[in-house]
Amino acid sequence: MKLVKNIITIDGPSGVGKGTLAFSLAERLGWNVLDSGLLYRLVGYLNCKEALETTQEIVQFLNESKIRLITNFNEGICEIEINDRVLGKELRNENIASKAAELAKEAEIRNAIIKIQRDAYDSEQGLIADGRDMGTIIFPEAALKIFLQASPEVRAERRANQLKEKGMSVIMHDLLEQIQLRDEEDSNRKISPLKPADDSLVIDTSNLSINEVEEKVMENFKKL
Ligand code: C5P
Repeated sequence: MKLVKNIITIDGPSGVGKGTLAFSLAERLGWNVLDSGLLYRLVGYLNCKEALETTQEIVQFLNESKIRLITNFNEGICEIEINDRVLGKELRNENIASKAAELAKEAEIRNAIIKIQRDAYDSEQGLIADGRDMGTIIFPEAALKIFLQASPEVRAERRANQLKEKGMSVIMHDLLEQIQLRDEEDSNRKISPLKPADDSLVIDTSNLSINEVEEKVMENFKKL
């Protein structure tokens, strides 16, 4: 396989710092960001809030819709343009994330969003792809694959801070439980489980600042 230098994949469990690192690198390199988790959250949202109850209904809706990911550098987040509306904030809560993790186990759902994810890469611009299977399944051709890890307590604290910044109230014990359950589901599912690609660079971020993580990645990027 011919390796592509302007895709960097970042995989790892929730709250490990993937999103922050993705945006920081994208700004530095002038690339786009694919927040693939947002697409699974959209699936969770369609199921909980728009009453698309069966996998078949969800897949049909995805196939018939015009869906595009937008990198919003001003706010440091990705948003989804779906038909005539833009969704972002609505998708960022733990209930939607839990629903997303439940539906992300299904092959039909995963297959329905492969193309949207691959289309996020524009060879002229470059892409930071953030998710669980970016290096293993979606962009195996990426020359630099990062896998981040950190203890569950550190991750729950980071996620709690993110949610608090958005004005949401958080019960730490419940958040830790939800995160652990979601990671267990993501790691143990049959299709596209969360795991490092064989050729990935694994970084434990528990005791590192975002700058330190970014420098490690850039050191490796410069060697390509
Ligand atoms: O990254 P985020 O926490 O927003 O992802 C929500 C859920 O979507 C994950 O817990 C996981 O179940 C699913 N997901 C996935 N594959 C990806 C990205 C997210 O299965 N590439």
